[in-house]
Amino acid sequence: MNIEIDPNAGFCFGVVNAINKAEEILKEDNTLFCIGDIVHNNIEVDRLNALGLQAINHDQFSKLSGKKVLFRAHGEPPSSYKTAKKQNIEIIDASCPVVLNLQKKIKKAYREIQKSNGQIIIYGKKGHAEVNGLVGQTEGKAIVVENTADLKLVNFDLPVVLFSQTTKTITGFTEISEYLKKECKSSLKINDTICRKVSNRVPLLKEFANQHDVVIFVSGEKSSNGKLLFDVCKKANQNSYFITCPKELNMDWFENAKSVGVSGATSTPTWLMNETIEKIKLENKSDLSMSKIKKIGVLTSGGDAPGMNAAIRAVVRAAIYNKVEVVGVLQGYEGLIHGDFKKMKSHDVSNIIQKGGTILRSARSEEFRTIEGRKKAHEQMIANKIDALIVIGGDGTFSGARIFTQEYDIPVVGIPGTIDNDLYGTDYTIGYDTAINTVIDAVDKIRDTASAHNRLFFIEVMGRDAGFIALRSGIATGAEAILIPEKETHTQELQKYLEKGYKEHKSSGIVIVAEGDKSGGAYTIAKEIGKEHPEYDIRVSVLGHMQRGGSPSAFDRVTASTMGVAAVEALLDDQKSVMVGIVNGEVSHVSFNKTIKNKKKVKDSLMSLNDILSI
Ligand code: F6P
Repeated sequence: MNIEIDPNAGFCFGVVNAINKAEEILKEDNTLFCIGDIVHNNIEVDRLNALGLQAINHDQFSKLSGKKVLFRAHGEPPSSYKTAKKQNIEIIDASCPVVLNLQKKIKKAYREIQKSNGQIIIYGKKGHAEVNGLVGQTEGKAIVVENTADLKLVNFDLPVVLFSQTTKTITGFTEISEYLKKECKSSLKINDTICRKVSNRVPLLKEFANQHDVVIFVSGEKSSNGKLLFDVCKKANQNSYFITCPKELNMDWFENAKSVGVSGATSTPTWLMNETIEKIKLENKSDLSMSKIKKIGVLTSGGDAPGMNAAIRAVVRAAIYNKVEVVGVLQGYEGLIHGDFKKMKSHDVSNIIQKGGTILRSARSEEFRTIEGRKKAHEQMIANKIDALIVIGGDGTFSGARIFTQEYDIPVVGIPGTIDNDLYGTDYTIGYDTAINTVIDAVDKIRDTASAHNRLFFIEVMGRDAGFIALRSGIATGAEAILIPEKETHTQELQKYLEKGYKEHKSSGIVIVAEGDKSGGAYTIAKEIGKEHPEYDIRVSVLGHMQRGGSPSAFDRVTASTMGVAAVEALLDDQKSVMVGIVNGEVSHVSFNKTIKNKKKVKDSLMSLNDILSI
């Protein structure tokens, strides 16, 4: 992360001069009084206070006698000088020369304009110390205006002389001037007395704020130029933050930030901005990864599965934790081809761990199957500086990833996300557990109505050409029979089961049929059995896509979270073309080649379990 201090920030001459004078006196004396805070920055005030500088108000000032009192850069009205003389107070005059000069000008203009019964107008903040000093030059007669609405106090038939507080904006001053030009019927003299140290900073600060991903603006809360300059930053760069001291820094602001700019008001000490930089560096210094990977893309592809969001969340957070930028690719490989990317921050994945579906959306991309499609995807990655990919999906997703990494030297790590649980190299895929629970819930309900009517139900569940969902949910719901593609079941065999279970007990019967079963699905097998046994009251229920929805189970959330983190770590460990998985409770890595070529086996022990339980 590159951090830069604004070369134009820091104390203006007037403030530096006042602080230097105060420090000089305090080398010899234990105490020095100052009317008001020497600078609108509490931290600097506290530092000087520790050296012996005591802030007092005008009332306390008038009661002092024979002491040294510093007049700060804002300047003082003539009454303060008189009081000092009367009370034998030694003045350390640190009034800014620009302000002193302005005071003189106003005094002169006031003397002259009195002859023609004219008015002095000061564009400034009512009650501000500098403004009070200026108004003092006119025996309190000057009219202070903060905006054009305040000009109603002016008599436009009489001569007018306009001045400005030194730290106001040129835009505001121009507005006032233009208004007066239109309204004044007598003479009008406009004196632009804005100190260019502040106003010149506006365009420079805009440019500075634009150059950085994040801007930290350090200033005292009371500083009016601080407020003004911070507004300039915020308008130029939304990622601008106002702090009074480094303690207020929030490290979330720097997520994915490559460059940070630190600026401040004219009352902000440079040492405070340096401390701010040190703290940002210290907190962000743990560049945990030695990897060249700086930006990861994450996508979900193929059939969605509950828990995909938990995996996305884990990838995003693990990447940020490792100081790697992360972008979400929308709609799987389709989004990769068309550059549909979204920069992901930690808060973008808040409140999604419990949600089904995928916030990145999914697709089965035909275009990515073509050489041209993958070429476009690669070009998008280069153009968007995405160094690596994490793909969440099933075997189709990994087949695409494998060929992509063969054609282009892009590290890709896969996370198994499919309700089918049909991937070699992992005991569980994300979504499988939730889908089984959804099936169980549905089958239990069907069992109620089946029992009420003495019916035999054929219930078809998903799983494409694998029987994992059918087998596990069949065992869990006490199905009379389970038909899965991995085991050929002849109609006769099935009838034997049904006779043992459904016919003998005559209450209800449930047959779970995997959609990929060789029998041809629930309707086909139900028809066949119905022909042989017209006495059976048969019904069919195809559960369908409801199995893919819903809030993920605790198991899927934890599995997804573990795999998401493992995938990022694998990439940073220079692994490529691998799928992360869970084998015997531990994170495992298996090459895309292996997971695609090998077929995951259904556990024989589970199949025989149902033979025993369905008697
Ligand atoms: O792979 C997940 C899965 O839900 C399978 O169980 C099912 O065969 C398939 O997707 C359905 O795909 P689609 O949603 O495209 O109809």
